[in-house]
Order: sequence, then structure tokens, then C-alpha cells
Amino acid sequence: MKIIGTGSALPKLVVTNDMLTKYFDTSDEWIRTRTGIETRRIMTDESLKDLAVAAAQRALEAAGVTAKDIDYLVCSNVNNNYVYPSLSSIVQGAIGASCPCIDIRNACAGFVYALDMAHMYLHTGRASRILVLAAEEPTRFCHWEHRETSVLFGDGAGAAVVEIGDGFLGSKMTTISNTDVLYQRQRLEPTPFEDLSSEAYTNHTMVMQGREVFRMAVTGCSNEISHLLTEHGFSTSDVKYFILHQANMRIINGIQQYLKADPEQFPTTVQKYGNTSSASVAILLDETVRANKVQRGDLLVFSGFGAGFTTGSCILRY
Ligand code: ACO
Repeated sequence: MKIIGTGSALPKLVVTNDMLTKYFDTSDEWIRTRTGIETRRIMTDESLKDLAVAAAQRALEAAGVTAKDIDYLVCSNVNNNYVYPSLSSIVQGAIGASCPCIDIRNACAGFVYALDMAHMYLHTGRASRILVLAAEEPTRFCHWEHRETSVLFGDGAGAAVVEIGDGFLGSKMTTISNTDVLYQRQRLEPTPFEDLSSEAYTNHTMVMQGREVFRMAVTGCSNEISHLLTEHGFSTSDVKYFILHQANMRIINGIQQYLKADPEQFPTTVQKYGNTSSASVAILLDETVRANKVQRGDLLVFSGFGAGFTTGSCILRY
């Protein structure tokens, strides 16, 4: 697999930390020092479909191909306006593609898992050019009276067009089943046959044990990346950039310190976009490529973590 084009799209509304003080008791100082986040983008009159389509079209344009040249579409998404059909099916029609589509729902690690899946489709000959997409609206699953979680998130979409090539060197994926540390329950319609009025069914807010997520993220991603580098005979200094899930500046710093890497090897967008769930890795990749910071042949490491608890990392020569 090799990446031949990238794209991203963000909502137009910029929400500062100070703006959030109107809705709950928080401060710019608390949010900056705990998370590194200064602003985030939040959807207003855009839909997630609009962002996903814009990101996809930019990636196709950058790759110099059309939607008709795509023979598979893999989309990472946790929620959108529809429970079904899949977001990838909706985007496929809007961009004028005619290929098979699949969504994966693997929380914030989803784009790295989507890249790994795309590699396997290409490797086995099931496809020759794939659109890998991540589009997320986590601000819609925050409870806007809960300052613990609402300050962390933003909305956005990112995409990459990949085709057969020899860039993908390897991946390591891990799931440690732990549903307590980070979860949100689905809204279910009650049937007449059982009691769905209990707390277990009516509490739909996001639950996050922040410190435990922090610990599992730093430990999980650091171990996976170290394992991958050793397995492929690389040292930290061989890597041009570590493209990490943008959840929190302190998590990124923790992984950087564990790996004893140079902070310059860790580009970030979390300060301006907050945590855009699985879209964050795709958006960061696109911004790094468009800033001409990545040259063909550079070694890139992608790593994400999220509810599950799931981590995923891959190493790729751009
Ligand atoms: N503004 C002001 N005060 C706040 C806020 C806020 N937005 N949120 C919590 N506080 C208060 C708490 O009520 C608590 O007050 P108390 O001491 O009077 O009880 C105090 O701040 C400390 O709260 P902690 O939760 O202990 O704060 P901590 O230092 O652990 O930081 C944070 C919280 C930022 C969530 C941290 O645990 C963290 O970074 N965790 C990682 C989680 C993460 O990034 N998740 C992203 C989403 S999941 C994903 O992407 C996979």
C-alpha cells in the first residue's frame, strides 16, 4: 500500500475555551494546562456527510484520480445522523463512486484500523485503489452540562487515497476488553416485553475515567510503537513523524518521552481542533502533507487509541 493523496475538512465555527465558560464552570487556564486545547471546531449548519464528502473530494483531487477510480471505500465513524445505512454508503453516492463500502466503528483508533484493513484488501488483490475515510462528530455525544468531557472534543473529517505499493511495512493492533473505562450506551426503543426504564438503559451520556484512559493510552501506544520499530529494525530517529491520535497534548508528550524521541517528530493539531476522535489522525496526516513537511521515502508511524480499550499502530514509508 502507498498513500497517493490526502484531504480533510473542518466545520467553520471556531469555539474558544473562553466561549465554553458560558455553559459550565471551567477556564481557559484549566483546559490549556490539562489538555493543550485552545480552540475546537463544532458543526452548526454543516452535516457530517458534508465534511466527509469534502475531505474525500480533496483527497481524490490530491491523488489525481476520480471517484470512479476507487474500488473500495472504508470509513471509520462512531455516530452520525443515521444508525444505518453506513456513512460510507452515503458518501459513496455523494462523490459519484460505485464501489463496495464498509464502515468500521472502532472509536478513536478507527482510522489506523481502516488503513490496516485497506492494506489487507490491496495485499490480497481484493482492491487496487481505496478511499480510506474518517469522519466524526464527537461533540454530539457529549453531554453539554458535563465539563469533564465537553471541553475535549471537536468535529471533523479526514481522508487518504491508497493504492497498491510497497510503503506499508507493518502494523500492530491490540484490544484489551475494558468497557468501564470509556463508553456510551445506545439509545434503544423500549419493547413491551422487558423493562428498559432502568438506569442501565436510560443513561446515555459518555462515561470516561480520564486518568485511566490517560494511562492506558500512553502505555498501549508506546509499547506498540516500540514493538513495531524493533520488529522492523528501526530506531526512533529513523522516523520522520509520529502521527498520533490527537486527544490530549499531555498524552502525546507522554508517548514522546517514553520513546525518547524529539518533540519535533510529533506534529499536532489538538491545540486548534481538540479531539476529533478517529478523524484526528487523518486530519493531521493531511495537514502535515499539505505543509510539505513529508517527502516521498520518509518513514511515518501512525498510532491511535480509543474505547475498547483499543490501540493500533502502523509503520509506513511515505
Ligand atoms: N474545567 C474545570 N475543572 C474541571 C474540568 C473542567 N473542564 N473538568 C474537571 N474539572 C475538575 C474536576 O471536577 C476536579 O475537581 P476536584 O478536584 O474539585 O474534584 C479537578 O478538575 C481534577 O479533575 P481530574 O479529572 O482529576 O483532572 P485530571 O488532571 O485527571 O485531568 C483529564 C482530566 C484532562 C480528562 C485527564 O484525565 C486526561 O487527559 N485524561 C485522558 C482522557 C482523554 O484525553 N480522553 C479523550 C477522549 S477519549 C479518546 O480519545 C480515546
